[in-house]
Order: sequence, then C-alpha cells, then structure tokens
Amino acid sequence: KRVAILISGGGSNMVRLVESMTGDHPARPVLVASNDPGAGGLAKAAAMGVPTAAVDHRPFGKDRAAFEHELSRALDAARPDIICLAGFMRVLTAPFVERWQGRMLNIHPSLLPKYTGLHTHARAIEAGDSHAGCTVHLVTPVLDDGPILGQARVPVLPGDTPDTLAARVLVQEHRLYPAVLRRFAAGDEDILHLQ
Ligand code: GRF
Repeated sequence: KRVAILISGGGSNMVRLVESMTGDHPARPVLVASNDPGAGGLAKAAAMGVPTAAVDHRPFGKDRAAFEHELSRALDAARPDIICLAGFMRVLTAPFVERWQGRMLNIHPSLLPKYTGLHTHARAIEAGDSHAGCTVHLVTPVLDDGPILGQARVPVLPGDTPDTLAARVLVQEHRLYPAVLRRFAAGDEDILHLQ
C-alpha cells in the first residue's frame, strides 16, 4: 500500500509513521505534503528519503476548494492508497473527504467522541477528567467524527497543565498511529485499544 502523509508543523507523528513502514510492513510512504512550506516536518521527511510537497494555503484565502485542488495535484501524482492526516490543521471540504473516504485516517488528541476540535487537553483538565488520550479514526465530512480505529489512554495527573498532558498524550500518539496504520494497511479495521 502507498501512504501519503499530510502535516502542518513539526511532523513528529509523521516521523514515527515513516519509521514504522519498513521490512514486512504492508505499506510504504510515497509523499509527505504540508499546507505550510515552512513546516519543520518537510525537512525531516526529506532527510528520511520521502518525497515532499508544500501547497501554501494562505494565497487561497477562504477558497478551500482551490487550495484542495492544488493539494490534490500533488497527491494524485503520488497515487496513494491511504492518506494519513498527522498534525494537519486545515479543515477539509466534504467533496475532498468524500473522495478519500474509507482510505483517509486522522489522529486527534482526545478520547473521541469527547472533545472534538481544539484545546482538547485544557478542556479535559477543566472538566476534571481522570483520563485523557488520543484517537485514530477514519475521516468523514463531520470534523473529528468518523469511525474509531484505535485509542490510547493516559491518566490526567494532579497539577497537569495542557502542556504536560499534551506531552504525555503525544507519547501515546507515537505508539498508536503506527500500530493502527499497520493493521489498517493489512485490511484489519478492528478497534485497537492500547494500554
Ligand atoms: C500534536 O498536538 C498532536 O496532538 C496533534 O497534532 C499536533 C502536532 O503533531 N495530532 P505533530 O508533531 O506535527 O505530528
């Protein structure tokens, strides 16, 4: 399977995904693309020998479809079977999502369905939750709402700040996403619960 990974920033999840696709893994990375030409993850991908592309979303303003048309030119050239959103911070239009539905995954830093959207860690702390975590799900037109493929939980500790909780969750993201991608690429869509 050919995997394209979309990023917006440092790409720490992308790095773990690329590093996991070796040996008898059923998938290989064919593209890392970003909506920000300055994304630190682009240099990391290039250093790992993965082709990269950048389509700056800013010149397109509110015209999401025009941005996605350019992004799709880079994607189509790579002929991916699977797209992984990894720290990708742009909302995608329904037509784009529907074109890839069933083959596009996302990682979200909360135990969905709780805390869709932003500031997930601050909201979990504010709510006094005993646990937090991350979710890998299939992308559907409704933000952070698709079928769950995997989750990992962490405790919320006394004195946690959004940053300390985010760091604890990120460690689990780096375990969960590669594990889910390997199973998904092999055709296994059973939900994975990591302890
Ligand atoms: C992190 O906050 C992570 O929780 C979310 O996207 C952000 C950046 O991730 N998935 P990455 O380091 O760019 O993969």
